Amino acid sequence: MEHIVINGGTKLNGAVTISGAKNAALAIIPAAILAEGVSTIENLPYIEDIKNLVTILENLGAKCEFVTKHTLKIDATNVNKQKADYEAVKKIRASYYLLGALLSRFKSAEVALPGGCKIGQRPIDQHLKGFKALGATHETKNGMVRLEATELIGTNIYLDVVSVGATINVMLAATMAKGTTIIENVAKEPHVVDTANFLNMMGANIKGAGTDVIRIIGVDKLKGCNHTIIPDQIEAGTFMIAAAITGGTVKVENIIPKHMDPLTAKLTEMNCIIEEGDDYITVTSPENLVATNIKTMAYPGFPTDLQPQMTSLLSVAQGTGTITENIWENRFQYANELMRLGCNIRVDGRTATTEGPGDLTGAEVTAPDLRAGAALILAGLAATGTTKINSVGHINRGYEDIVGKFSRIGGDIETKGK
Ligand code: EPZ
Repeated sequence: MEHIVINGGTKLNGAVTISGAKNAALAIIPAAILAEGVSTIENLPYIEDIKNLVTILENLGAKCEFVTKHTLKIDATNVNKQKADYEAVKKIRASYYLLGALLSRFKSAEVALPGGCKIGQRPIDQHLKGFKALGATHETKNGMVRLEATELIGTNIYLDVVSVGATINVMLAATMAKGTTIIENVAKEPHVVDTANFLNMMGANIKGAGTDVIRIIGVDKLKGCNHTIIPDQIEAGTFMIAAAITGGTVKVENIIPKHMDPLTAKLTEMNCIIEEGDDYITVTSPENLVATNIKTMAYPGFPTDLQPQMTSLLSVAQGTGTITENIWENRFQYANELMRLGCNIRVDGRTATTEGPGDLTGAEVTAPDLRAGAALILAGLAATGTTKINSVGHINRGYEDIVGKFSRIGGDIETKGK
């Protein structure tokens, strides 16, 4: 089986170029369905989730062509199916965006629920609440969610929880609804803004993305457009943490430094030296890395998708650190694996406590999910001796060429058993 082998203990030094944002791409590719026309999407990350999503779009009737590894042309003119079954969507949790996109264009959608997830429940009640408010009926039967509407009519929608998925999905559905839709208590993540920008380029009238309230005036029709995906804030953060955990200096390039503020603030508290430019951040690890406390929150709070990686870092910092997970109820499953590498972690409900600096030593471990896999790579890079990471499929779903990128900045890391 494919696995990653790391001989740890070397400092990472050099520059790394960050890919396009996975979670923006997973929303923007389905959004291309809204137009009877051709959209060209650039700066896509070349990862398994994207390849799987493109296959789903092709099965719906879209013509998709990778012009390069990172540029995709989608001609959605002939999309003629509104159904994506379990076989198609089970590999991608974000397949729920097909619901909003198909409903918007065809007033009808049938998409399988992708099922549970290791980090916690993934309910879509807020997505459905929004679709219903716009005039759609929904039923869930035999694992499929079915939406139907005679017409979609703009209205006021207040989301009970701040949800990235529900915000984007309701925005997709409302783009061509009649009249004005106001969505309150929305997520403000950079990928919400990027998706709104993409839809506006297609001819939508969406204002307020990036604030708590999004106002959409429905338009009759959208056209294809060209769009460049924003840099991946979570990949960037993973490499910033890598510099800190290995005692090195890494320049993380092709990013929007503002998106990194919650992490930059924490790394500064831990004594890291940060240099910020227009489109890069350089992180230098200090002599005396000290622990801190993290609470995950919706943007601009500390991102849950960097929580596992921070646990690795806190494990090598001086003193007691706490990590409180406020988004997903089950996102500490990796703690036992990190403990196999010598991290000293105690989990109590939604809070993990680290005691450091731990003396990390290599071991065989298994990645339970995507970001936990990244946390294991980071700990493996910091540990002395050899670490073997199994279940790397999770990591390849969301990080482009992570092994190549780490090895080019000095990591002794390779993929084996392919
Ligand atoms: C997105 O998931 C990301 N995925 C996740 O990244 C990320 O962890 C999460 O946002 C939070 O930032 C994609 O963008 C594809 P949510 P999403 O709806 O949209 C509750 C990664 O590692 N909720 O913002 O599914 C939910 O249970 C992945 O890249 C409801 O109660 O997350 C959670 O507690 C993992 N009802 C909270 O809201 C709903 O209808 C936030 O979830 C929807 C969500």
